[in-house]
Amino acid sequence: MLPYQPAPFPLARPRRLRSSPWVRRLVAETTLTPADLIWPLIVHDGAEDRVPVASMPGVFRLSPKAAAAAAVEARDLGIPMIALFPNVDGAIKDAVGTGATDPDGLIPECIKAIKDAAPEIGVMTDVALDCYTDHGHDGVMEGDRIANDASLDRLAEQAFIHAHAGADVVAPSDMMDGRIQAVREALEANGFSDTLILSYAAKFASAFYGPYRDAVGSSTALKGDKKTYQMDYANSDEALKEVAMDLSEGADAVMVKPGMPYLDIVRRVSETFRVPTFAYQVSGEYAMMQASIANGWLDQDRAILETLHGFKRAGCAGVLTYFAPQAARLLSR
Ligand code: PBG
Repeated sequence: MLPYQPAPFPLARPRRLRSSPWVRRLVAETTLTPADLIWPLIVHDGAEDRVPVASMPGVFRLSPKAAAAAAVEARDLGIPMIALFPNVDGAIKDAVGTGATDPDGLIPECIKAIKDAAPEIGVMTDVALDCYTDHGHDGVMEGDRIANDASLDRLAEQAFIHAHAGADVVAPSDMMDGRIQAVREALEANGFSDTLILSYAAKFASAFYGPYRDAVGSSTALKGDKKTYQMDYANSDEALKEVAMDLSEGADAVMVKPGMPYLDIVRRVSETFRVPTFAYQVSGEYAMMQASIANGWLDQDRAILETLHGFKRAGCAGVLTYFAPQAARLLSR
C-alpha cells in the first residue's frame, strides 16, 4: 500500500520526472560515489609482482609492493578502504593454519607496506583460516567436523596479529559461533579497542565463491563443503539472528555475502538494525559479469554502475567489489 493515493492519469504522468538528465539527477533517491566502495585485493607470497587470476579477468595476485601501489591508486580515486585476501604457498599450509598467526606473515607485511605508502586509506583484513589450512576450512577440525570452540582462539589470535600490524578493520568471515565476542575480547585485552570489527554476519554457503577459491588457492585443498557453518540460502530470518548476535558481541558494522542474489537480506538487515550494512559483490558475480562483457553481451560501464547502485538502493552503506577502481573512475568523470 502506498502512503498516498496517486492522482490518476493524465494528471499524474511519472514520465515528467524522467524527461531530462537534470531532472533525473535532481530526484534521484540514492547516490553512488567512490566513498561507497571497498576494493578487495588478492595478495600473494610469490616472486612476481602481478599474476593474473584466470577465473577473474582483470584481477591479479599482488606482491606486497604491488598491493601498496594499488592502495595508492585506490586512495587517489577516493576509495576509502581496501580489503586484503591472501594466497600463500601451499607448503606453509597445515591443519591448524599456523600461517594465519605468523606476525611476519604475508598479511602483516602487506598491511605495513600499504600503511607506509598510503596511510590515509583504511585497511581491512579477512579473519578466517581457510587460506592457511591444508583442508581449506575456515576453522580447525576435530575428526571430520569443523570444531567451533577450538577455532575461536585461533581466529582471535589472527585478528590480534592483524591489528598489531596496523589493520584498521578486522573482518571475521569464518561464521563460527561466538567469534565476534572472542575477537572483541582479544582486541580489548591487548590495547586495540579502536580497531573496528566488520562482521561477515550473514554469509551464505555459495557457489559464487568458486573463482575466489581459485584465486587464493584454497579450492584444491577444500575437503567437502562449508554448509555446517555458512548459512543455508533458503533462510532469511536466520540472517537477522546472526546479525543480532554479532552486534551484541561487539561488531561495529555487518556484511551480507554474496551480494546481488541476496539484496533482500540487505534490505531486511539495514531496515531492522539501522547499522552500517555492507555487501560483497563476490568473485562469482564478478566472473559472471566479466564473461558477458568479454563476449559483448553486457555493456561494461553501464552494468557495473547499475549493479553497484542496486546495493545502495537496497540499503548498503558500501559495497566490496573487484570493480571498485573501474567504478570509481566512471564516477569521477
Ligand atoms: C573465506 C572467504 C571467502 C571469500 C572471502 N573470504 C570464501 C569462502 O568462504 O570460501 C569469498 C570472496 C569472493 O568470492 O569474492 N574466508
